[in-house]
Amino acid sequence: MGERVHAARDECQHVRDGFGRSIEYLRISVTDRCNFRCVYCMPERGLDWIPRDDILTASEIHDVVSQLAPLGLSRIRITGGEPTLRRDVCDVISRINSVDGVTDIALSTNGVRLEAMASELRSAGVARVNISVDSLRPDRIAAIARRDLKLDPVRVIRAAIDAGFAPVKINTVVVRGVNDDEVAAIARLTLDFPVHVRFIELMPVGDMSDSGLDHIVPSEEVLALASDALGTLVADIGPALGNGPARYYRAPGAAGTIGVITPMTHTYCASCNRVRLTANGHLRTCLFGDHEVDLRTPLRVGQPLAPLVAQALEDKPREHSLLQLRTGGLRALSQTGG
Ligand code: 5AD
Ligand code: SF4
Repeated sequence: MGERVHAARDECQHVRDGFGRSIEYLRISVTDRCNFRCVYCMPERGLDWIPRDDILTASEIHDVVSQLAPLGLSRIRITGGEPTLRRDVCDVISRINSVDGVTDIALSTNGVRLEAMASELRSAGVARVNISVDSLRPDRIAAIARRDLKLDPVRVIRAAIDAGFAPVKINTVVVRGVNDDEVAAIARLTLDFPVHVRFIELMPVGDMSDSGLDHIVPSEEVLALASDALGTLVADIGPALGNGPARYYRAPGAAGTIGVITPMTHTYCASCNRVRLTANGHLRTCLFGDHEVDLRTPLRVGQPLAPLVAQALEDKPREHSLLQLRTGGLRALSQTGG
């Protein structure tokens, strides 16, 4: 990545950051709450939840998106915490869907409420979903999530496909000694289902910040496990709309693809195309670090947001600092919107 350039829009009307990266993808956290307490994400006791009055309302989220879409922030992902816990999540989504220039709305979920809400979410405007599946074994799902909500991941995947979400992506955080023995079984889902399974390297944050480095399984090892079980994997372009950080492969005869997301062993920051809006209306330009501006206060007094966003993008860091910040100080991903 070269010199910092003045944040500007390119010919496709996408705003560029200070390193010339085209920023077109806005992740919106609609709540910081979750019905799970995944070991790699949230402490067992939960977090200091954002006070209700600080959470952006559906109408405020609509207003933020209306001001950001003209900058080229046209692709939206709804995240949390667990976004389906927000009572008016479908209202939030349909308002976003009504904004001119929004071209794509996706949702990330742990799947617990997906079956019940699938058609409602589709009607509101969600085109595609990412479902977290860290294990296919009920006891282990409960152990990782530290909640036993009787989740049946295969059933959730079927429901998502049947509801017409496309593509359906599966996120699996691989944790050594916890679920690395299930890589083959989870990869095998791609044989029968047209899903895109993405194995994610554990980022050692929150409860895992002390011991986490020992639990990271490099993506090369994951790919070797998958090809031992399913046959030689060939590189694949993966989901048509995927322009995120995953690299995709396909097993012989498989309906879906296997991808790896490598925050720890290969940095993909050079092609980063995203920013995040937290549930309390702060814009975070990087997952880790202090790069955050408050948009809620200016929004509530009617100040225009575009200049603040342009400044934040100028200041967007070149890459995340996770490898240096090995212990402490990092916020759980549920607070930043994954
Ligand atoms: N390491 C890697 N991925 C994480 N996620 C949350 N916490 C972590 C972490 N520590 C991502 C995963 C998961 C989703 C809820 O957020 O994609 O499936
Ligand atoms: Fe982009 Fe920051 Fe994520 Fe790197 S860590 S990919 S710079 S948001």
